[in-house]
Amino acid sequence: MAEKLKAMRGTHDILPEEAALWRRVESAFVEVATRYGYDEIRVPVFEATELFERGTGFSTDVVQKEMYTFLDKKGRRLSLRPEATPSVVRAYLEHGLARKMPIAKFFYLGPMFRYDKPGAGRYRQFHQIGIELLGTASPVADAEVILLLWQFLKAIGLTKLGVRINTLGCRPCRIRYSGVLKDFLKDKLGALCSDCRERFARNPLRVLDCKNPACRAILAKAPEVREILCEECVRHFESVQACLAEAGIVYAVDPRLVRGLDYYTRTVFEVFHADVGAENAVGGGGRYDHLVEEMGGPATPAVGFSAGLERLVDAVKAEGSMRGENSGIEVYVASFGEKALRPAFRLAAELRARHRVWLQYDQRKIDRQLGTASKLGARYTVIIGDDEAARGVVRIKDMVSGEQVEMEMGAVAAWLKEKIGGQRVE
Ligand code: HAM
Repeated sequence: MAEKLKAMRGTHDILPEEAALWRRVESAFVEVATRYGYDEIRVPVFEATELFERGTGFSTDVVQKEMYTFLDKKGRRLSLRPEATPSVVRAYLEHGLARKMPIAKFFYLGPMFRYDKPGAGRYRQFHQIGIELLGTASPVADAEVILLLWQFLKAIGLTKLGVRINTLGCRPCRIRYSGVLKDFLKDKLGALCSDCRERFARNPLRVLDCKNPACRAILAKAPEVREILCEECVRHFESVQACLAEAGIVYAVDPRLVRGLDYYTRTVFEVFHADVGAENAVGGGGRYDHLVEEMGGPATPAVGFSAGLERLVDAVKAEGSMRGENSGIEVYVASFGEKALRPAFRLAAELRARHRVWLQYDQRKIDRQLGTASKLGARYTVIIGDDEAARGVVRIKDMVSGEQVEMEMGAVAAWLKEKIGGQRVE
């Protein structure tokens, strides 16, 4: 027997029962993003590898270790997108959107790909929702982006949430802080884990969010970024916090929060959920004031976030805060006898202009068809046998009361409209 084919490790199917919940979570996001003035952007799933090397950052784990990179038939280096932010910036520049709109607001949703070690809440193909706001350096924008994420998480009923924020400072502050950290760490390298020794060379800030207890103990005494921030960065961070307080968002300042991507400056943040296990960041983001410029555009400050749908759906299930149900069918068209098939087919087509209709394809005993109709949750079953077909009539069974009525085939649509209602869609 042929070997069974399975979904690849780190990928998963979202079956119809669960997809209904996904759709509800996604619609809540679209609804909230729209209220904040965001419009949807759809960018390709693969791009030139160079986009992520320059955008996400050459020294990040995502680019160094986690990208699905391949050569196409013409030998071009392509990668499946590990995140959407660089693609959104590329599209913004490629289509001259900076000239068309001084402030651009995009939302997106879709699959992302990272060759990470799969585990609870960690997949190789996962799905993100996200927003990018380009064209403003205002701290109000940072707070508003966090508020949008917060309001969306509330809209899907989540309560066990925590918000952490930090600032990495502007570029000169960030560079200064990297230097200060390096000085602090250089005579402690032997005691750090091998990952941190590598980070020390590539991106010393990343040492700060190491989970290893030995590294954590050393870092407890590390200088904090706020000790070296310039005045403007201090003011910016204070304004963000004042706005968050204004909006009633409870947050914690976490000086160890540095995020895994290279482009951040100033505000960074993450939102956690208590019930989604070790990988409990449901979303994260921050300000990236130099990315547009680094990708060849005019100096354009920006801020955004992304959130992982798998983790959000897990959180919703853990809190039981939302249920997704497929809408089910309204009318089951049952036929028996060769002559009934075509009128049944025609009638189902007519009824589908307004209702959700299931047409029985095969010849089956009427009892079995009625059994299927109730399993599918049909409100009415339209029954057409050879005899009815010859007389131009049907029987309609009310699946709740069990009552049956007979009527002309031409009267069925109007009768069901009266009973069920519904919008007509041609
Ligand atoms: P990120 O923190 O790399 O940020 O990812 C955002 C969210 O995606 C995470 O908080 C997590 O919920 C989810 N996620 C990441 N990797 C995985 C995985 N392997 N499996 C399941 N879920 C995952 C970004 O991607 C940035 N683009 C955010 C951003 C937008 N910053 C500015 N604008």
